Amino acid sequence: MIKFDCLTLFPKMVGSILSDSILKRAIENKLLEVNFIDFRSFSKMKHKNVDDSPYGGGAGMVLMAPPIYEAIHSINDNDKAFKILLTPQGEKYTEKTAKMLASKEHIILICGHYEGFDERIRSFADMELSIGDYVLTGGEIAAMAIIDSVSRLIPGVLHNDMSAPTDTFENNLIEFPQYTKPYDFMGMKVPDVLISGNHQEIDKWRQAESLKKTKEKRPDLLKEGNN
Ligand code: ADE
Repeated sequence: MIKFDCLTLFPKMVGSILSDSILKRAIENKLLEVNFIDFRSFSKMKHKNVDDSPYGGGAGMVLMAPPIYEAIHSINDNDKAFKILLTPQGEKYTEKTAKMLASKEHIILICGHYEGFDERIRSFADMELSIGDYVLTGGEIAAMAIIDSVSRLIPGVLHNDMSAPTDTFENNLIEFPQYTKPYDFMGMKVPDVLISGNHQEIDKWRQAESLKKTKEKRPDLLKEGNN
């Protein structure tokens, strides 16, 4: 069981992934819990503003620290939860981080919006994560990526518990090629070894293909320490 509390101004956006069959079933089976906290409701400003112009001047608005602080502290056992700030300045998110997070019981995700955060918000988080070197309009898409990729690692969430260990990025490798019917699609045939029935040969072929594919597509994964 893993619990996510997601601080966002757009709960419906992040919530949309929970209607997907796999995560929906995980929630029904009590393997996953996801709550949304709209931190606007913690604003003490007259118009429930959560952002203001930057000290020192400049364009854009900056997310204020107090509503985020109050929202975090409204969560039960927030002191024991692992808190993550989604930001393009964060450490790059990988499957290795997903596995580390899958061992946690309670994760708080803080999604910013607007042009930036008040720097003091960073002190609330245990970790800052980025899903890639590009700038999104907010942390919601990153939070969705994290909830989805961590949840599928929780035992029982995937239909077939064997599928996670052979996935791409396991052992720093890309997954081997997969085929299903038809045998011949527009002249492109399924490799003979896969219909040979020889499972030793099939395993050998898959390992070799996995390595070949990784060398071709993602040689960076083969360098020690990556992923
Ligand atoms: N917020 C804006 N851009 C982001 C990114 N690339 N990763 C995580 N959070 C973000």
